[in-house]
Amino acid sequence: MDDRIISNDKLGEDKSEGSLRPVSLDEYIGQSELKENLGVFMKAARMRNEALDHVLLYGPPGLGKTTMAYIIANEMGSNIKTTSGPAIEKSGDLAAVLSTLEPGDVLFIDEIHRIPRFIEEILYSAMEDFKLDIVVGTDASSRSISIDLPSFTLVGATTRAGDLTGPLRDRFGIVSKLEFYTDEELKDIVIRTSHVLNSPIDEDAAFELARRSRGTPRIANRLFKRVRDFALVGDKDLIDLDITKVALEKLKVDEYGLDSTDYNLLGAIIEKFNGGPVGIDALASSIGEEASTIEDVYEPYLLQNGFIKRTSRGRMVTDKTYEYLKKNVQDSLF
Ligand SMILES: Nc1ncnc2c1ncn2[C@@H]1O[C@H](COP(=O)(O)OP(=O)(O)OP(=O)(O)O)[C@@H](O)[C@H]1O
Ligand SMILES: [Mg+2]
Repeated sequence: MDDRIISNDKLGEDKSEGSLRPVSLDEYIGQSELKENLGVFMKAARMRNEALDHVLLYGPPGLGKTTMAYIIANEMGSNIKTTSGPAIEKSGDLAAVLSTLEPGDVLFIDEIHRIPRFIEEILYSAMEDFKLDIVVGTDASSRSISIDLPSFTLVGATTRAGDLTGPLRDRFGIVSKLEFYTDEELKDIVIRTSHVLNSPIDEDAAFELARRSRGTPRIANRLFKRVRDFALVGDKDLIDLDITKVALEKLKVDEYGLDSTDYNLLGAIIEKFNGGPVGIDALASSIGEEASTIEDVYEPYLLQNGFIKRTSRGRMVTDKTYEYLKKNVQDSLF
């Protein structure tokens, strides 16, 4: 099995992911603080008959940022228009999206940290004054014009809040970090998914899946689908603990939800860099991954669970890593 289950390759994103998305705040499991606060802000905005303040959602991939953006639009009874940082290459691209907005609309910009800096400024006045300030024409004949926009809500999502400029960040009235989910929350997500997909799973199996999903709903759903395949082919009507364990073993997802890329990464720090510290670029090239993939996708979970620590001189493994790998090393890749 490749790393697809863990990775955050958008192209590899399941097409059916949309159908598993909860559509209301009530259906959204976990992130209780975010839910509670947003619930209040949305209610207040509705009572005032105003658009909700701009919202920035940040955190590791697959934790429910896009899902929440759609829920916000749904709860506000608004339309949602979506774009992403990488899709905005010229100021005209952003101007085009902004000029289609209607009062109260939600504009969702995914990967908002990737908007080029020189375009970002257009967002400042759009967010603050609901004005679209653009320069038209070239050279001597150029002039700037200002167009009124309706009031709207910008929902920005990013895996890297640190890459956002201060001025952009400051223009969000609501800034919220999504946290890894607890095993209990993920268990509920797995059970919900099993209902949506109409393939029953028992509690123990759901909990086992949850435990190995790196705190991440997207991974829980992906694992669920693969385990469900094993159950179907194995002629089981109910997904139970046995088939779940067999499937996870075949998928090479270990007790902590670590997969071969994690093993390679931790193994490289130990074997090639003496346990660290090692800089992110050297580490990335030693295992043939992008530095940004390590930082966004792999590292957050390894950091949170104490397999890696970050020091001013780079990443280091911990005693826990040595012990863990010693115990699990037989069936890993090195
Ligand atoms: N709180 C939740 N309750 C139930 N399911 C969830 C929840 N959060 C996320 N999911 C599920 O996980 C999947 C991934 O979530 P989503 O696409 O919103 O993540 P994301 O944070 O936008 O990721 P990325 O950073 O990669 O864009 C969704 O399709 C949804 O089914
Ligand atoms: Mg998303």
